Amino acid sequence: MKILLLGSGGREHALAWKIAQSKRVEKLYIAPGNAGTEAQGENVPIKATDFPALKAFALEKGIDMIVVGPEDPLVKGIYDTFKADEATRHIAIIGPTAQGAQMEGSKEFAKEFMMRHGIPTARYKSITAANLQEGLDFLATLKAPYVLKADGLCAGKGVLILPTLEEAQKELKEMLGGMFGSASATVVIEEFLSGIECSVFVMTDGTHYKVLPVAKDYKRIGEGDKGLNTGGMGSVSPVPFADERFMEEVRTRIIEPTVNGLKEEGILYKGFIFLGLINVEGHPMVIEYNVRMGDPETESVMLRIKSDLVDLMEGVDAGDLDQRTLEIDERTATCVMLVSGGYPEAYEKGKLMSGLDEATATGSILFHAGTARNEQGIVTNGGRVIAVCSYGNDKADALSHCFKAAQLIDFEKKYFRRDIGFDL
Ligand code: AMP
Ligand code: GLY
Repeated sequence: MKILLLGSGGREHALAWKIAQSKRVEKLYIAPGNAGTEAQGENVPIKATDFPALKAFALEKGIDMIVVGPEDPLVKGIYDTFKADEATRHIAIIGPTAQGAQMEGSKEFAKEFMMRHGIPTARYKSITAANLQEGLDFLATLKAPYVLKADGLCAGKGVLILPTLEEAQKELKEMLGGMFGSASATVVIEEFLSGIECSVFVMTDGTHYKVLPVAKDYKRIGEGDKGLNTGGMGSVSPVPFADERFMEEVRTRIIEPTVNGLKEEGILYKGFIFLGLINVEGHPMVIEYNVRMGDPETESVMLRIKSDLVDLMEGVDAGDLDQRTLEIDERTATCVMLVSGGYPEAYEKGKLMSGLDEATATGSILFHAGTARNEQGIVTNGGRVIAVCSYGNDKADALSHCFKAAQLIDFEKKYFRRDIGFDL
């Protein structure tokens, strides 16, 4: 079968790596891909949201399945667009409809969904300019710190956590006043939950589901999880506290009500569900839903899937996911992200990279996040540059392999966190 994968980051390189191992795949294209995905398939210079160009390309090449990496095309309705057209209706799309993608595209939609289905999550109130006073009053009933979330997509920047009531009330007004454009015309105010987070990934065909390996990501730039938020500095799978008892509660109180709730409400959803969970005194609560895989969790999660991912994705499309097998590697997988000095603030691109082959020779697996190829070779082309991933018998073992490989890779102002997994 011919597959078109959409996206260009480390997540997509990891997906491409796993898809390319499948015997079911005759040809893999990645749009637009990066310098790493070239090793797994053919990069195509089309943006993941350019639906007319994607349609024309899919028809020209006889694409059978489109795997959607990022959320943007899903929220913009790639599923609906392809299914509404007689010519492209037969193409399997791994990802939900635009309505299903509202689980990530609108925080208010996700919260209301959780309320309807009794799914554990933080108490909240949804506020617009029309009921601002209600928002200010609700904030005054909460304890510090205060959580404000822009309703719409903000490329991961729409959540503010404020230490004082005054700041929270001031920021609420600014958000409603257009701080994130129309994305913050509605703001969800939430009670702050304290606990340790983890990411649970589910594949669903709309009726059945499979739970992929659980992972934890590290979002802050600095060690000890300090400093600015990034697109992700590393990940670890499995997560020790997500044990059998915890996962049983995740299945019965969160996953099943989610999959069944979507179905009961007539929301067509065939794809990945990413549950951002927090462990509050031993019980899982939902921080957020995403409608795609996580980055950089995917880089660790793909290493731990032994089964053919394409077979599972065919099950997602066909509606017989329960008939497919998901076998998980018992080993630990870790990911350490090498980033450009200065990131997530200003940083330079175009730095020549060396040592990639030497790092690979140690047994680590490299997933490119922000790289490009020019006449000199592979150069940096983003803040997050390359994900160094390794297997190990445990977390310490896997990380020691990552760090050894990370030392062999060189580019000007390379930076990485040496404390990935520190809190587990
Ligand atoms: P989100 O964009 O929803 O993932 O939020 C970004 C981060 O803010 C999450 O990963 C959490 O660390 C934190 N966060 C969001 N909501 C809450 C909450 N209700 N209580 C505590 N932390 C939260
Ligand atoms: N790792 C968090 C995300 O992908 O949103």
